[in-house]
Amino acid sequence: MDAQAMGDDVASVLYTEDQIHARLEELAEQIWSDYQGKDLLLVGILKGAVLVMADLMRALPGSVPMDWMAVSSYGSGTKSSGVVRIIKDLDADITGRHVLIVEDIIDSGLTLSWIRANLESRSPASVEICALLRKPEVAKVEVPVRYIGFDIPNEFVVGYGLDYAERYRNLREIVTLAPHVYA
Ligand code: PRP
Repeated sequence: MDAQAMGDDVASVLYTEDQIHARLEELAEQIWSDYQGKDLLLVGILKGAVLVMADLMRALPGSVPMDWMAVSSYGSGTKSSGVVRIIKDLDADITGRHVLIVEDIIDSGLTLSWIRANLESRSPASVEICALLRKPEVAKVEVPVRYIGFDIPNEFVVGYGLDYAERYRNLREIVTLAPHVYA
């Protein structure tokens, strides 16, 4: 679907499909040159990263394997508690491999900080992060991110994998949600 189909649920279009693809092409070029000759494994974090992974990996000029993790926060349902439970672990053994985590968005940074530490404990050659979006204003922990698509203001964004109550993940653009939708 595209933003037009959302009617007045959209406040504004932050990034069009073309802008997202163009940025991912740039990141893919950088990644490809940085990992030349290395055993690279892309690790996507479900579910938000599905579309970033699909377009990023297709923008790479050669074959690169992927794997997936699904995580969830413990307890009260506040996703940024920083205490994370693995729902689906990697299929691959990452010992000695170069891992690049692929994410849609970093808000507080707590989820990625935990995932990064968890993967680092498995003796990989390296662990780096590629995130399409980051909200610097709401960072609670400093997460070193090697590849970043766009820094965005602290607004409720959906689309291109990002959801509100599981809706709008299939939106082509990244948009800010009109407050009446979640108020
Ligand atoms: C989102 C996103 C990150 C996390 C970022 O996932 O994909 O994993 O939240 O938040 P943080 O930086 O504050 O920790 P979410 O829990 O919404 O799951 P989803 O990917 O299935 O939408």
